[in-house]
Amino acid sequence: MAGLPRGRNVLLSSPDKRPKRFGTVVMNDATPTLDPDLEVIFTPEAIAGRLNELAQEIATAKLENLLVVAILKGSFVFAADLIRALHRVGLAPEVDFMTLSSYKKARISSGQVSILRDMDLDVRGRNVLIVDDVLDSGRTLAFAKDLIAARGATTIRTCVLLDKQLPRAVNLEPDYYAFLCPNEFVVGYGMDVGHRYRELPYVGRVVRQ
Ligand code: IMP
Ligand code: MG
Repeated sequence: MAGLPRGRNVLLSSPDKRPKRFGTVVMNDATPTLDPDLEVIFTPEAIAGRLNELAQEIATAKLENLLVVAILKGSFVFAADLIRALHRVGLAPEVDFMTLSSYKKARISSGQVSILRDMDLDVRGRNVLIVDDVLDSGRTLAFAKDLIAARGATTIRTCVLLDKQLPRAVNLEPDYYAFLCPNEFVVGYGMDVGHRYRELPYVGRVVRQ
């Protein structure tokens, strides 16, 4: 750093001229960067606290040889945090993934669920916990449950981050859920609209497009 004045703030590179997607409202180090197009519904702290409770609930079921099946893409952040919460309560689940599609790009369910990428592990004789982000019509979870049952799992439980509590298209209620969710399209914490917002550490509703 020869030649630079010492003890002062020195601009080492030119200011970043790229457009900013976020209007930052920094309240403290733990406050996430807020997107002006979103309103926070569940904060990172609320989610973390609730996941610890959920893990305790799941642990009381004493599921031997537990296999967590995360439904991608939307549940990847939730599943990642949930398995670490399960570890903290002494469980050691195996984990697999299945990519299902029902929404495509639209916000309205097409009603048809398809497997985009199947899981690898054999579910025969296993206690399976299916993990998904949102329970809405119930079609996605019902599809996954039926498939895993047909493949010979011993027990199947379902766990969702958000239960929308709408009249379901199928008869299915989750065994575990983190939060009841308002009947609005939500994003963040793994969930997207048009591939955006998955990276956000909170769950929010879109208030501007
Ligand atoms: P269901 O099949 O109608 O129950 O819809 C569940 C699937 O739709 C979930 O796996 C989500 O990926 C997606 N989904 C439903 N509601 C939302 C939402 O508000 N935001 C993001 N994804 C959603
Ligand atoms: Mg999904």
